[in-house]
Amino acid sequence: MGSEIAGKRAAGYTAVDRFVQNNTCIGLGTGTTAFYAIERVGQRIAAGERIVAVATSIETERLCEQQHIPVVALLEREIAVAIDGADQIAPDWALTKGGGGALFREKAVALCAKRFVIVATPSKLVPALGAFPLPVEIVPYAMPYVVREIRSLQPDIEIVRRGRDAPFVTDNGNWILDCHFGEIDRPAALDSVLKSVHGVVASGIFAGLANDVVIGREDETAIMLPQNG
Ligand code: A5P
Repeated sequence: MGSEIAGKRAAGYTAVDRFVQNNTCIGLGTGTTAFYAIERVGQRIAAGERIVAVATSIETERLCEQQHIPVVALLEREIAVAIDGADQIAPDWALTKGGGGALFREKAVALCAKRFVIVATPSKLVPALGAFPLPVEIVPYAMPYVVREIRSLQPDIEIVRRGRDAPFVTDNGNWILDCHFGEIDRPAALDSVLKSVHGVVASGIFAGLANDVVIGREDETAIMLPQNG
């Protein structure tokens, strides 16, 4: 097994083993690390447990179906815990997400869950957010206005619509702009400003949402990350 994959699997499996209880509803994330959490829940269901899930994307819904995990709608049941990946994790656990384009539903599930657990490998830990472009989901019609407004915040910013020949279309029928802000000092403030722009659906900044971070390592072990550690 490739070492990065071993770490992702250790993170996903450990998070499920530690935080998911039988007879509960959970949120399941999107991406290559959340995949292993979904796989582990599938194993627990195959062993007889009764767990249902809210999916954060159409892709995750499809994986749940493959793993025989019953899928319910948002807040059809209380979400005890949501498990998801991240693109970057700052020391205070502010995150950027949306590398896979699923940020809106991921944030909805994180906001509804009683506990939000991040699964990742050490490569996602950064001293400050910003090296990875920030995904922003927008209503396609409003793109010129949104770009103008974001540029008024930071004139030299590089903004790239995701998808070279054809736009990347999210599960909600919207587009993604990848915004290269550089270092993001105040993630919560930037998220608020972006959300206030008419046409922005959600930004990939998840500030103040993560309760736990599970880091999976190359040797197939996982640790709980101490905050600010
Ligand atoms: C999906 O839109 C993203 O938010 C993912 O959760 C994030 O990009 C992490 O994905 P990986 O675990 O595949 O790196």
